Amino acid sequence: MSSSPYIVGNWKMNGTRAMLAEARAINRVAGRYAGVQVALAPPFTLIQAMADEAQAIGVGGQDCHWQAKGAHTGDISATMLADCGADFVIVGHSERRKDHGESDAMVKAKAEAALAAGLGVIVCVGETLEERDAGQAEAIVAGQVDNSLPSLEAIATVADGRISVAYEPVWAIGTGRVAEVADVISMHKAIRERVVAAYGDRAPGVRILYGGSVNAENASSLLAADGVGGALVGGASLTAESFAAIIAAAGVAEG
Ligand code: PGA
Repeated sequence: MSSSPYIVGNWKMNGTRAMLAEARAINRVAGRYAGVQVALAPPFTLIQAMADEAQAIGVGGQDCHWQAKGAHTGDISATMLADCGADFVIVGHSERRKDHGESDAMVKAKAEAALAAGLGVIVCVGETLEERDAGQAEAIVAGQVDNSLPSLEAIATVADGRISVAYEPVWAIGTGRVAEVADVISMHKAIRERVVAAYGDRAPGVRILYGGSVNAENASSLLAADGVGGALVGGASLTAESFAAIIAAAGVAEG
């Protein structure tokens, strides 16, 4: 993959307007690394202000509904995200799959709605510790990729680089326990095979990111690993200081 590394911060349910100062600082850092594509996914409430104030970075949502509008109290559509300045959305994060019972089919519908609204999309996949210990990690993740990615038809008019898959082993999220580089490489290879099976000659336009306890110390080795096109970062994206170190590591990794 020759495209620039994609470093995405997922703020989860963190951040009030006071945290826009961190976004502005991250924006300044991103401006110094033209070869790195930087983005933040803040809570819905901060998207519009962040999109206005941080123009060197992408700004996105952490979820969207699969319909454009309707009787779905509390939900937000991809169209609404685009309307307030978002340019991408994360779908299928393991916290959504677990806390909100999201199935692969729902994630796929959300991803397709996002593309239809003109947003880029990051589709998250990843196995639990029980699944890894049972030797099922690759089969589980392959199934998630097969069933959560938007259809070939849905990507027909979508530009390369607008679709990413984030491999996030559930046991590595927020635990400080990062996956072994060798395991990341083999899982990214397995995911790439499924993406090729789904998309054929469109597959090179799909980036595969790693997520799960990425920090300033481990970012360089993860980002240099074969097949890793970037990182989805939770805890370490909450301050400009820690996120800047990861952006810098991606700048080096890009070489
Ligand atoms: P973490 O979260 O970096 O805090 O492990 C990653 C994620 O859930 O996207």
